[in-house]
Amino acid sequence: MIEPCTFTIIGATGNLARNKLLPALYHLELAKRLPEQMFIIGFARSEHSDDSYRSEVAEMLQGKVRGELDDKTLQRFLARLHYQQGDLHESENFAKLHDRVTEAPLPQNRIFYLAIRPAEFGVVTNHLAAVGLHKEQGGWSRVVIEKPFGYDLESAHILEQQLHRHFREEQLYRIDHYLGKGTVQNVLVFRFANLMMEPLWNRNYIDHVQITHAESNGIEKRAEYYDGAGAMRDMLQSHLLQMLTLVAMEPPARMDAESLRDEKVKVLKSIRTITPNAVHAQAFRAQYKAGMLDGEKVAGYLDEQGVTPNSTTETFAALKLYIDNWRWRNVPFYIRTGKRMAKNTSMICIRFKHPPQQLFRETQVEQIKPNWLLMGIQPDECLRAELQVKVPGLEMKTETTTFDASYCGVGQRKLDAYEALLLDVIEGDSSLFLRYDEVQWAWRVVDPIIKVWSTERDYIHTYPAGSWGPASSNRLFDREDQYWRNSIDRDEE
Ligand code: BG6
Repeated sequence: MIEPCTFTIIGATGNLARNKLLPALYHLELAKRLPEQMFIIGFARSEHSDDSYRSEVAEMLQGKVRGELDDKTLQRFLARLHYQQGDLHESENFAKLHDRVTEAPLPQNRIFYLAIRPAEFGVVTNHLAAVGLHKEQGGWSRVVIEKPFGYDLESAHILEQQLHRHFREEQLYRIDHYLGKGTVQNVLVFRFANLMMEPLWNRNYIDHVQITHAESNGIEKRAEYYDGAGAMRDMLQSHLLQMLTLVAMEPPARMDAESLRDEKVKVLKSIRTITPNAVHAQAFRAQYKAGMLDGEKVAGYLDEQGVTPNSTTETFAALKLYIDNWRWRNVPFYIRTGKRMAKNTSMICIRFKHPPQQLFRETQVEQIKPNWLLMGIQPDECLRAELQVKVPGLEMKTETTTFDASYCGVGQRKLDAYEALLLDVIEGDSSLFLRYDEVQWAWRVVDPIIKVWSTERDYIHTYPAGSWGPASSNRLFDREDQYWRNSIDRDEE
């Protein structure tokens, strides 16, 4: 049930609020999904009155929403907005925030979205608790935090202790916006609402799984954060491992939050530990150097503003993982991510084994291609299978055809992942948010690698901006007939 609430954005003038949260809330307003009694309070350091904040939001929404801004919706949305000025580090500002959010007629169900630097999560939750905003008297109180949850296993643990000093697990919504993406959710529907797939979904039929997230963007203006994080912490430990859990998990007992998260944790726990001497065989990192993108020259990572000279931070990371359970034993999962790659694309590609007997081998020169199941996450949401069929004619020749099992880009109404997830927080559904043990087990997977990498500071592979990353990352593959798939379209493969 959707209840009235007061939604406070801490860090209300920052990038996340501007680019994601406010546009997502506006779209929920447009879809008439926000509770009628809902107030949005922006909290940030800059000086603003309610009115000047409203004008700023109206301006920032321009160009960030789908289609034209709808005036009636915009007015309704702006009327919900209020502003409270304050520095995060000064406790008296939280006393003022307390007075603001507890004022009648603001609903006593409260959400605090921490759209701030992770290093400030602890300070802010302490301040919130000091003025009693963690208490659930007369309504609920929820805190939403963004990744990265810590910097490694140990710091994640420390952060967790800080959060749990004041908040119960049920009050914490650890967001991984990949779980709000349409195709990522479709993985569950495709697997568990179709009987056909289940018998094939295991080591007997699947050769390997690939998960790719490639971006043509560089690090933009985020050197301060990114240079200390790198691709492994920024994308792989969180978004990519989450996608892997959905592909690999067992059917949950029920579709509730705990049953779903129990199964995801089981997958993470079953990932074979990468020992320090296996790091080179199972992990690969690289950094972009200058190159060409869309016909334009772009700078290398070391020349980006704010990057430390000689930094060995990776902007490309790839891993080979094995899940040691009955379903997946010895099936490699190859996952990779990179900035300044040739194209923006995220996809899950599942390659099936060859049929046990190559019956058509004599009839054509080429060996029959294996089946692939392809899930496009972005830019287009898509679900597609590649199958072999006979070419019409007298010869017994085969060719690959694709079978689109979803709209595959046709007339898609693109939702942003934040829309679905913000609505879930308002509705109190934590299924698509991470429980702490998921975060912890995901750190256990990558911790040995980041430890080894942190001791190897003299050398890092490079790749030209605008490429698909270094060819040497192919060394991760178990066999010669395995290769990175760069597109879900056969022609571009
Ligand atoms: C964020 C990372 O979590 O995800 C960014 O910090 C990355 O570096 C972004 O660009 C990718 O998200 P999306 O939704 O644009 O694929």
